[in-house]
Amino acid sequence: MTKVTKSKGTELTPESITPAELSAFRIELLRWFDKHGRELPWRGTRDPYRIWVSEIILQQTQTVQGWDYYLRFIDRLPDVKSLAEAPEDELMLLWQGLGYYSRAHNMQHAARQIMEEHGGVFPREEREVAALKGVGPYTTAAIMSIAYDYPLAVVDGNVYRVLSRYLATDTPIDTTPGQRYYRQMAGQFLEREQPGRYNQAMMDLGATICTPKSPLCASCPLGGACRSRGTELVNLLPIKAHKTMVRERWIEYFLLLHRGQIAIRRRDSRRGIWKGLYELPGVVLESEPTALPTPPNGWEIIETLPLKDHRLSHRLLHLRVHVCSTSGDADPTYPDGTEQIPLSDHETIAFPKPLRHFLDHYTGSNRLL
Ligand code: ADE
Repeated sequence: MTKVTKSKGTELTPESITPAELSAFRIELLRWFDKHGRELPWRGTRDPYRIWVSEIILQQTQTVQGWDYYLRFIDRLPDVKSLAEAPEDELMLLWQGLGYYSRAHNMQHAARQIMEEHGGVFPREEREVAALKGVGPYTTAAIMSIAYDYPLAVVDGNVYRVLSRYLATDTPIDTTPGQRYYRQMAGQFLEREQPGRYNQAMMDLGATICTPKSPLCASCPLGGACRSRGTELVNLLPIKAHKTMVRERWIEYFLLLHRGQIAIRRRDSRRGIWKGLYELPGVVLESEPTALPTPPNGWEIIETLPLKDHRLSHRLLHLRVHVCSTSGDADPTYPDGTEQIPLSDHETIAFPKPLRHFLDHYTGSNRLL
């Protein structure tokens, strides 16, 4: 990648942006938002609970996919109380496929906090909102600004992209000083009279115009003043100082199938990205397997099905499901910690996305049922 070079001392400071430029930025952005802002199911509400739910879901997925998740979630758990009281399995089913299941657990924890500490009423103070479990600076700013018009600027991936390009700054977005710089800049640009609309306009601009790849600069309302428009910088910004290390893992699952029943187990509900979900029994390997794994005692592999690789932020998972039947006539034994369910009930259980796809596909193919 071309190194972006900039001589020392040219870093724009938040104070160096003139009031006239700040004002033009806000006006153009909000005018654009009036015309081109997206209609989304959580827009038009001031209910902090709904805004919170939408923001947490959108930290997990893109708006199009998030839409259905949001509607289902709100339909089933329309308020703090219902979330606080929801059975964990139901919460996991609602979250199934979104990943980072600890976020759903944290939300339930926070809902219980609101029931206990705020009498079930969503708090209004920044300090109280920020104290809710799983609610970081981004979510606090989104809730406070959209629900209460409180002037806090959101700083998310969209905002990093829009500001770094607009300012043509190579300040990295993944260092502590870099993040402080963007926080201060974002605060400077914020339209303090309408922070909720302004923040959502920045998100929409980042999502639809100032996109990571092939941004639509010709349609950008800030184009005239953007310092990297028409230059190669657009494709290089924002800068990250660190590369993420992606580790590979190979997971061998066993579908232990006997008289229409399968064995499942719940993942350790204290740790991991899939915590609280169910999975098939299996083994995790740190290097590529060179042979078939040994199935649990009393079982034999009758078919091996490779799944699509699954990419997480820090992991690349290579997955296979080994369909097993019992090797003799005796009743099968099952690995410790598993329980049996009819295969036909798989839809009522929350599985990680690759296993969910596998089970849908496998049972849908009518090979077994
Ligand atoms: N991404 C995250 N939060 C959003 C919101 N409120 N509107 C649009 N996109 C978003």
